[in-house]
Amino acid sequence: MMQNVEGKVAFVTGGASGIGLGIAKVFAANGMKVVIADSRQDALDEAMAYFKAKKSPVHAIKLDVTDREAYVRAADEAERVFGKIHVLINNAGVGAGGGPIQTTTYKDWDFGLSINVGGVINGITTILPRILKHGEEGHVVSTSSTAGLCAVAGCVVYNTSKYAVAGMMETIATDLQGTKVGASVLFPGPVRTNLGVSTQANRPAHLRNEVEVMPAPRPGAQRPPMDQSLFMDPVEIGERVLRGIKRNDLFINTHPEFKAGYAVRGDAILRSIPDEAPNAKRHEVIKSFGTLVYNPIYEKQTTPGPLVRTMKE
Ligand code: NAI
Repeated sequence: MMQNVEGKVAFVTGGASGIGLGIAKVFAANGMKVVIADSRQDALDEAMAYFKAKKSPVHAIKLDVTDREAYVRAADEAERVFGKIHVLINNAGVGAGGGPIQTTTYKDWDFGLSINVGGVINGITTILPRILKHGEEGHVVSTSSTAGLCAVAGCVVYNTSKYAVAGMMETIATDLQGTKVGASVLFPGPVRTNLGVSTQANRPAHLRNEVEVMPAPRPGAQRPPMDQSLFMDPVEIGERVLRGIKRNDLFINTHPEFKAGYAVRGDAILRSIPDEAPNAKRHEVIKSFGTLVYNPIYEKQTTPGPLVRTMKE
């Protein structure tokens, strides 16, 4: 469990903007050395202006997280600049697109899954072995979404990618039991970020649909552009992530407004189980499947208290 983060090195993907930048700001304010890796050079430059003014030890690397060779080079560069990496934040992601299943194409699937799932796999495969190898305490967080726990109409690609990230991190946390490296999955609700603009910027030409099929508007819906003023501040997400790492939380949830939505889904799973007596002999066999039948990792999750801010912007 990482109690003391001062002087430790973090590698944050999508770190030039939004949630990743909020996390990087909180980490830097708490004495960490931070690599921000992002595909958008203009966003990296803008973020570095902030960190240079604060004289924070932050290093920017232009990286497309879907490029495995480039990822290895980026990890090497991070170690050259700051030394051993302790914390990996797999946060780079896109809004995916495609709309409801009726309009979703292979290009939509390939675009959304290659970044939102493939990028996380590449981060884990490149950097986690390096963290485990040096033997010091470490932590990995991957950004899912509330859409990784509940289905959102019109977002099938995004939903699929974020459920995948959640399952991946739950399994990785299980595998890492008994090591000095923890793992968490972050489930943000709405946050004030640049996801719309960056999703467009990160969509490669070969994964753009010839005809962009916009999802059919909902009946009576001529909605004005969404007012983000009540969305959460990315720095607040960063504070919640830092707290989650220190608490070694499996789940980092940010928005209490989603509780009823999670509960109704969890209850539906329990209600769908047939009301039949378990077969005792079969149960004995199934028990040998270990955590598939009962994973004690879930027992450890407790409820965090009020958030204590560590930085002022
Ligand atoms: P953002 O657009 O402000 O930041 C995302 C960053 O990731 C951008 O700078 C973008 O250039 C970068 N990125 C995208 N594809 C990349 C690639 N292939 N390689 C390297 N960098 C890449 O958006 P935001 O919202 O901060 O997104 C961060 C994560 O949070 C995403 O995974 C998103 O799905 C997730 N999320 C966002 C929520 C929101 O309300 N904004 C809610 C729940 C989850």
